[in-house]
Amino acid sequence: NVDDRIPRISSSIRVIPDFPKPGIMFQDITTLLLDPTAFKDTIDLFVERYKDKNINVIAGIEARGFIFGPPIALAIGAKFVPMRKPKKLPGEVISEEYSLEYGTDIMEMHVGAVKPGERAVIVDDLIATGGTLNAAIRLLVSFGWICSVNTTAVMLLHGLDNGTDAWLERVEVQVVECACVIELPELQGRDRLGDNPLFVLVSST
Ligand code: PRP
Repeated sequence: NVDDRIPRISSSIRVIPDFPKPGIMFQDITTLLLDPTAFKDTIDLFVERYKDKNINVIAGIEARGFIFGPPIALAIGAKFVPMRKPKKLPGEVISEEYSLEYGTDIMEMHVGAVKPGERAVIVDDLIATGGTLNAAIRLLVSFGWICSVNTTAVMLLHGLDNGTDAWLERVEVQVVECACVIELPELQGRDRLGDNPLFVLVSST
């Protein structure tokens, strides 16, 4: 029972062979952005899915998660948190490394951008191997872990009872779902997301 907006979204995505290198079929969403109906339908489908789910955080992945994430965040009344390439964010950050085809990259998020107990959806244009989303999930979860370590340390230091500081007490940001416009199912990126659900609009072969 496919939503009739999906075919238009799918056909608005241009596929460019051998970009950025031979053998890669690049899924170019800039052509989707040129079609205001397809772009609006894309945002609407995500908004319809997340509007009544008490989502506090839309975490967008640089670069194309910065295109789709903010309009979703505004429509559902959530904050937008950018997950950036290294050395771009000016404040204190936490980092996670992830593997690329050759070598590794690092993703960063500002400390304090999310609070333990908040409910997050991670947004990107595309999932291929799943390495990028895997790092984004680790960023949100490791943040909670840092807080829980601090809690124990702080409480030992000050001889505090449980429940003294609610902000430090709660442990995880809950990753409700990962949301992408496009999935390349042959690369089985879904398998790298653990128990975290993935929602996609278009599957591309
Ligand atoms: C693309 C895409 C995703 C990622 C998916 O970004 O926008 O973020 O790759 O790949 P994965 O599932 O195999 O990790 P890219 O690396 O091209 O970076 P860019 O958005 O900054 O151009």
